[in-house]
Amino acid sequence: MTQLISELELPHLAMEEEAFSADPYPHFDAARARHPWLATSRFGYVVTHYPVIRELFTSEQKMRGNYVEMVEAMGATGTPWGDFQLGHILNAQGDKHKRLRDMLAPAFTPRQANRRRQLMRDTMAELLDSWAPRGAFDFEEFVSWFPIGVMCRMVGAPREAIPELRDSLEALGLSVSMDLSVMEAMQQGARQLEDWAFGLIAAREAVHKSGDDNDLLDVLVEVKARGGISQDELTNLITFLMVAGYDTSKNIMTLLMHEMTRFPDIYRRCADDVEYCAKVVEESMRFHSTSNLMRLVTDDIVHRDVLIPAGTTLFFPWGVATRDPGAVEDADSFLPERVNRNTHLGFGLGSHMCLGQFIARAQMAEGLHLIARRIKNPRTEGPQGWRPFVGVWGMRGLPIAFDPA
Ligand code: HEM
Repeated sequence: MTQLISELELPHLAMEEEAFSADPYPHFDAARARHPWLATSRFGYVVTHYPVIRELFTSEQKMRGNYVEMVEAMGATGTPWGDFQLGHILNAQGDKHKRLRDMLAPAFTPRQANRRRQLMRDTMAELLDSWAPRGAFDFEEFVSWFPIGVMCRMVGAPREAIPELRDSLEALGLSVSMDLSVMEAMQQGARQLEDWAFGLIAAREAVHKSGDDNDLLDVLVEVKARGGISQDELTNLITFLMVAGYDTSKNIMTLLMHEMTRFPDIYRRCADDVEYCAKVVEESMRFHSTSNLMRLVTDDIVHRDVLIPAGTTLFFPWGVATRDPGAVEDADSFLPERVNRNTHLGFGLGSHMCLGQFIARAQMAEGLHLIARRIKNPRTEGPQGWRPFVGVWGMRGLPIAFDPA
């Protein structure tokens, strides 16, 4: 018999608490022991069981991102941060989303990502030249310069802007955490990033080139010249690409390095073999990754005899979904060469699935390989704190000591 979701007796997950962020797994296990696939939270109903997350995404057309509601709840309608949230591709649906996605897709294929590998290696090698001799540093800070450096090179942006961009990206990384205390920083970050993107586009339009050495910005500026995207959309898109690739990559690489301090044999092998690094990155994303996001139900869904009415918010913990022991064999073991890998959901699911995933994968594998060659025997006492589980999760500071090579 079908039961209304609000009438179920469900366990509660206190996802807003730092203790939860520090170790979410026992909380999920305890929740699943009380109900096989649902829990409540301050942020909506949480779908706790990996197969059900996949099943529900077959009804994706009955859900959408909850950005309108988020901006309203934060009292930010009509502000730079609010306009950025409502204008970005994750909030786009139907024809607009298809137009943006079709326009971007050719620049984000595996082949295009592979073409950028040298640029990724150069960025990491330069960083290591200045950081590796120190013998100790905060790994999160060190690795934060990597995705910004890669992205700036990919759009041909001058490097002088990078420190200011980093501050803005740090602020915007907290966008989905629903924390009013960071609103002013997020507003300033959104203003700064959009001004930067606007200036970058204008500068490129003035010298716009075409040919085989076209970078991502050249491609996008050409689409704008043909009328395929407006000025506001392109400014928002460049801003979004910076945001989308920043703390996701940084936080995953920090979580990954933490695991590497626990598995020195795996780490040592990474120094010899970049293809093995790709496996370590995949296993690392299965083990835990960063993105845990919501959807608003727009049409009633009946699933496994539960009625989820329109207006319900569902929370999808993609970053930890493949630690579900009911779905993944030996879920708590870190095994880069596992055969029966249940595909991780670190890049999301469905029509909004990450467009930058091939770039992200290549960047993390190349980065890990060079790090393992220069930073030997990393040791840590553990993270200094944890970022909110909701939105883009991760460690807040990971001091390491190591032997420079
Ligand atoms: C390890 C790094 C990354 C992770 C974990 C990640 C994760 C995600 C996730 C989970 C989504 C889906 C969000 C949703 O459906 O609500 C997404 C979307 C997206 N990501 Fe990534 N991302 C990463 C890196 C990147 C990079 C480097 C870029 C671009 C340079 C990028 C561009 C995008 C874009 C454009 C979308 C929106 C796609 C759409 O709405 O159709 N991401 N990402």
